[in-house]
Amino acid sequence: MKPYIYITRKLPDALVKPLQEKYTVNMWKHDDIPVPKDVLREEAKKADALFTVLADSIDKSVLTAGENLKVVANLAVGFDNIDLTTASEKGIAICNTPDVLTDTTADLTFALLMATARRIVEAAEYVKAGKWQSWSPFLLAGHDLHHKTLGIVGMGKIGETVAKRGTGFDMNILYYNRTRKPEAEKQLGVSYTAFDELVEKSDFIICLTPLTPETKNLFTREVFQKMKPSAIFINASRGAVVDEQALYEALKAGEIAGAGLDVFQKEPITADHPLLQLPNVVALPHIGSSSTETRTAMIKLCMENICSILDGKEPKTLVNKDWRPLVNRS
Ligand code: NAP
Ligand code: GLV
Repeated sequence: MKPYIYITRKLPDALVKPLQEKYTVNMWKHDDIPVPKDVLREEAKKADALFTVLADSIDKSVLTAGENLKVVANLAVGFDNIDLTTASEKGIAICNTPDVLTDTTADLTFALLMATARRIVEAAEYVKAGKWQSWSPFLLAGHDLHHKTLGIVGMGKIGETVAKRGTGFDMNILYYNRTRKPEAEKQLGVSYTAFDELVEKSDFIICLTPLTPETKNLFTREVFQKMKPSAIFINASRGAVVDEQALYEALKAGEIAGAGLDVFQKEPITADHPLLQLPNVVALPHIGSSSTETRTAMIKLCMENICSILDGKEPKTLVNKDWRPLVNRS
C-alpha cells in the first residue's frame, strides 16, 4: 500500500501532482475554510504524513490519533500551533518553512511600516471616497521613516532582513534578542539594546519574535506607556505576543501614534474588532509570506520534507531536533 498523505487545505492540482505519483494523497476541499478538528483527527489516524497550515492546531489529540503518522509539514516558519513534545515522544518529525519566506515577509513588514507611518491606507480610502477637495499643507500628513530610529524585537532571519531594508532608508537601527549578533552589528550597523531601552528610544518598534511562553503578552500596557507618544508599533510575528486590549487602550489614550498589525490573537478577526475601529491602525489578514512565488516555494519545501521522511532520509528543515523515528512502525 502506498503511504497516505493528508493536506489540510486545497492546493493547486499542479503542485500536488508530483506527490500523487508516489503516494495516495487526499486534500480538504476548501482553501479558505479550516478542516474541522474531528475530520483532521480521522485523517491523522490513517495518515503517514500531514501537510498542515498555521491555523490548524496540531495538538496531542491529533498527534496521538496518528498511529502511523511519521511527519507533519507545516506551511509556515512559526510552529506555535504544534505540540512538539508529544510529536517527539511519538517519533513524529515536525518540519517548517524557514528561509524561503524571509525576504517576502520582510518586504511585507516594511510595507506595513510604511503604510502605517505614511497613512497610505487611510489616504487611498480618502481618495476613493471622493473626499479629496483640494491640496492642503498638512493633508494626511504622516511620520517620516528616513533617519528615524527603528527598533526590532526578535532579530532573527526576518528581523535582520527588515533591518537591511531600514538601512536603505538611513535609519538608526536598534535590536533586541536573547542572543547578541555581532555579525549583524558589523554588517548592518545595528546596535544591541536592552528591551526597555529599545522601546523607549525607537520611533518604530517591530516585533518579529516567535510565539513562545516567554514572548506571550510581551507587549503590555506598561510597555506601550514606555514608548514615545509618536511611536508606531508593528507586529508581524504572532498576535499573542501583544496584549491586544492594552494596545487598544494605548492607542485610544494617545500613548502611541499608530499600529500596523498583520497578526492577531484570534484569527480571523471580524469587522467589529475594537482595533479596527481606530483610524491609526492598519490591519492585514496575516499575509506576511503571501506572494505567489514564496507560497509556491513553501508548498514545495513541505512536500520535499514529507518525501524525505517517507523515504527514510533527513528532512531539510526539521523543527524538533530531538526527533527520532520510532522503530517497529509500518
Ligand atoms: P528566527 O530566524 O528563528 O528569528 C526569531 C528571532 O526571535 C531570533 O533571533 C530569536 O533570537 C528571537 N527571539 C526568540 N525568543 C525571544 C525572546 N524571548 N525575546 C526576544 N527575542 C527572541 O525566525 P524568523 O524566520 O525570523 O521568523 C520569526 C517569526 O516571525 C516566526 O516565528 C513567526 O511567528 C513570524 N512570521 C510571521 C509571518 C507573517 O506572515 N506575519 C511570516 C513569517 C514568520 P534569540 O533566540 O537569540 O532570542
Ligand atoms: C507565518 O506566519 C509563518 O510563521 O510562516
